[in-house]
Amino acid sequence: MDLKQREEFSNNIVVILAMAGSAIGLGNIWRFPYMTGEYGGAAFIVVYILACFFIALPIFFAETIIGRRGRSDTFGSIKKLAPGSRWHHLGLLTIITPIVVLSYYSVVGGWSIHYFFRSFGPLFSLPAAGSFSEFISSAEAPILSHSIFIILVAAVVLAGIRKGIEKFNKLTMPMLFVLILVIVVYSFTLPGAMKGVEYLVNPDFSKITPDVVAAALGQAFFSLSLGVGTVLTYASYMRKRDNILVLGLGTAGFDLFFALLAGFAVMPAVFAAGISPAAGPGVVFETLPFVFSKMGGAAIWLTVTISAIFFLSVLFAALTSAISMMEVGVAYLVEEKGMKRSRAVIAISIFAWIVGMLCSLSFGPLAGVQLFGNSIFDFLDKLCSNWMMPLGGLLFTLFVGWKMPPAEVLDEFSNGGKKKLNAAMYPAVRFLLRYVAPVGIVVIFATAILG
Ligand code: PHE
Repeated sequence: MDLKQREEFSNNIVVILAMAGSAIGLGNIWRFPYMTGEYGGAAFIVVYILACFFIALPIFFAETIIGRRGRSDTFGSIKKLAPGSRWHHLGLLTIITPIVVLSYYSVVGGWSIHYFFRSFGPLFSLPAAGSFSEFISSAEAPILSHSIFIILVAAVVLAGIRKGIEKFNKLTMPMLFVLILVIVVYSFTLPGAMKGVEYLVNPDFSKITPDVVAAALGQAFFSLSLGVGTVLTYASYMRKRDNILVLGLGTAGFDLFFALLAGFAVMPAVFAAGISPAAGPGVVFETLPFVFSKMGGAAIWLTVTISAIFFLSVLFAALTSAISMMEVGVAYLVEEKGMKRSRAVIAISIFAWIVGMLCSLSFGPLAGVQLFGNSIFDFLDKLCSNWMMPLGGLLFTLFVGWKMPPAEVLDEFSNGGKKKLNAAMYPAVRFLLRYVAPVGIVVIFATAILG
């Protein structure tokens, strides 16, 4: 399986872009603002930042170390690093999760396609134009946009690491950044915007409860794409001389910066419109078009432009993340099962398309189907982000912290001792990996079970 030359990312910058592309997604633009709204504003952000650096970042290092040293997919890398053990079977778990996440993520990604076209008003109005809930509960339009989304993702993954993933990220990530800045500037100019800014910067620490901590940890996992082998798989395409510490700090830094930017793009607009920041998952899709249309006033072109720019940003961000989810399964099927890349892409796309369709329909015709008291969409989202992702993260930290020989871990983390700063940081990273991160994850589980 190892005989043929594996593709590699061209350089460190490209790896950071691809990792940031995976990390920055609906988690930042769609999930972060409403989670912040639901869990108390600035206080949530403070906990979130701590969770990112003390728990999520060590897990990021763990995945990178396994991937780059194993130089294979999740299953193959773990098998190589712990021959004769059973750890790689657990690796399978982390291959199934991202495919399931891809299924429902594509549904929300599809919404951004729909809203992008809808920005142009009656001209391009798709069927079932109406309120957000009317749209998602209809059958055809959401499924159509979900299908288009999956096709776009498949096309990029099909093109391979350098020609597909690398190129797409290089093109869209800088664009995304500019687009979101435009929205932030626009948002700040709205009357009443400062209330939203205050909401994001003035923490009220009395609001921190175990629930808030668990939610912040879960958000850190989701946002940094952890516990599902994505970081591991991308790291396996990294060159040996690239710097893992820089990559980790760079990705976590960009991701955090972007979440805050998205917060500053969304919250001032929400407050300016007098909408509750805790309006839930609908905040972005339901309130923003309304805000845009109100604020654009008589200047229709302004509304159209702002709205189109915004949903295009959401689409780009979602695509680069979904691409990284699909690559995990594709790498596994190609390297472990000897499948052709094209067949692997098609197989995973069809699976995600069908499961995603069920998720989409669970807002409407299938709303009656309940799994443990949740709709299909909510059930899969909760199953993955609250359970499977932290479980995968726990597996990776335990593997690197307790199973791999420490000398090997240090060797990989510091490029054979060549990176002095990495070597100096290693004892701290090791402590985080062995104790802080696993305990943190167990806290998420305990809160979820007891709560
Ligand atoms: N991190 C992505 C986001 O914030 C979601 C993601 C989860 C991507 C799991 C890959 C794997 O949108």
